[in-house]
Amino acid sequence: MPGLRIEGYVIVSADGMLANADRVMPEELKFEGDKRFFTAALDRADLIVHGRHSHEGQANSPQRKRVVLTRSIGTIAPDPSNPRATLWNPAGTSFEFACELAGVRSGTVAIIGGPAVFGMFMDRYDTFWLSQAPLVLLPGGEPCFPGVPRHSPQEILAAHGMSPGDAQILDAAHGVSVTPWRRAA
Ligand SMILES: NC(=O)c1ccc[n+]([C@@H]2O[C@H](COP(=O)([O-])OP(=O)(O)OC[C@H]3O[C@@H](n4cnc5c(N)ncnc54)[C@H](OP(=O)(O)O)[C@@H]3O)[C@@H](O)[C@H]2O)c1
Repeated sequence: MPGLRIEGYVIVSADGMLANADRVMPEELKFEGDKRFFTAALDRADLIVHGRHSHEGQANSPQRKRVVLTRSIGTIAPDPSNPRATLWNPAGTSFEFACELAGVRSGTVAIIGGPAVFGMFMDRYDTFWLSQAPLVLLPGGEPCFPGVPRHSPQEILAAHGMSPGDAQILDAAHGVSVTPWRRAA
């Protein structure tokens, strides 16, 4: 959809994981500075898109419009448990139609995971915001993108036509930063 700007957000460990071996995002990957950055970005977004296990669970979450991927339905349906959410099965209908049904035709869409959902949009991000926690290791954890750890998250973003901008420090004590990876215009 030409009026939509697509942005991705993740925080990854030094070994490229977004969750531990139990497929849970552990406390050691949570940092106040990153949380503030992520919360502000989601507050600005017009629509949030995520898989069924990747709800951000923030104070403002009930106010946000969202599309939730699930195979529990064939195509698309309102979420009976949340008036601002639309359930979407991409095997049944297009992303454009999901946005339209969610009532969003222009503005910013924030893609927030999990790995398969990040992978689906790899050729569509205008900017992918890659937060990194270089002191955290999650051996046997859940890789942030399809293709990790054979390739690093940075190699995957570069292979999909994105280039890194300047990193911002989010937590100096733990070396946590966020780097915008932008698609060349
Ligand atoms: N570090 C970070 O920044 C970050 C970011 C995101 C997530 N996480 C963490 O990573 C873990 C994510 O878990 P996850 O791997 O289970 O990912 P997920 O994508 O959140 O959830 C997987 C579920 O989403 C649905 N889904 C995903 N892809 C689909 C597709 N192509 N078509 C239809 N439905 C699809 C399916 O739901 P149904 O079972 O209903 O069919 C699937 O079981 C969580 O612990 C989360 O907290 C961390």
